[in-house]
Amino acid sequence: MEKAETKNLELKKGTVVRNATEDDLNKIMEIERASFKRADVFPRVLFQKYLRELNDGFFVILDRCGSIVGYAILGEKDGKGYLISIAIHPQRRNQGFATSLLKFLESKCNEKGFTTMTLEVRVNNKKAIEIYRKLGFVEVEKKKCFYEDGADALVMEKPT
Ligand SMILES: CC(C)(COP(=O)(O)OP(=O)(O)OC[C@H]1O[C@@H](n2cnc3c(N)ncnc32)[C@H](O)[C@@H]1OP(=O)(O)O)[C@@H](O)C(=O)NCCC(=O)NCCS
Repeated sequence: MEKAETKNLELKKGTVVRNATEDDLNKIMEIERASFKRADVFPRVLFQKYLRELNDGFFVILDRCGSIVGYAILGEKDGKGYLISIAIHPQRRNQGFATSLLKFLESKCNEKGFTTMTLEVRVNNKKAIEIYRKLGFVEVEKKKCFYEDGADALVMEKPT
């Protein structure tokens, strides 16, 4: 198992953040389908593209005692670290797992020299917005009609 190293990340015992692999894709797809509306679900080929193209530590899963709890993907946009997606299995939510993955990606941004981390979130995704706020992200822009169903997105950013 390839652990995705980063400094200063405290995880619960039995929990590791590691690079995603092809073998994880069935579970990632299960989490994806359980987490997003159909129109927002990433196709498997997109995850495969991220596996091929992204740097070490940019497409990670959180493994708790051998089972995959969630995943997160970081890319680059306009010289900033860009949160492409994050999802936690519905039965494993509210235990701080997304917070751990986000802190991991923040430290990756820092290691890679990105001074800012940015993301888009549906304006009605109250829970995700609250977590981002708690972590220090602030709203910098609203993108009208950003999603396929016409919903707006908030752009949130944090210095890393
Ligand atoms: C948004 C999402 C990723 C959050 O995942 P999560 O693992 O439940 O998030 P966390 O546990 O880190 O934080 C959630 C809550 O648990 C609380 N929490 C943090 N650590 C905790 C702990 N050790 N024990 C209990 N609760 C804890 C947080 O304070 C937060 O509280 P809140 O709901 O009052 O804001 C998850 O709901 C999800 O996958 N949603 C669908 C996909 C999605 O919307 N992705 C984001 C797209 S932008």
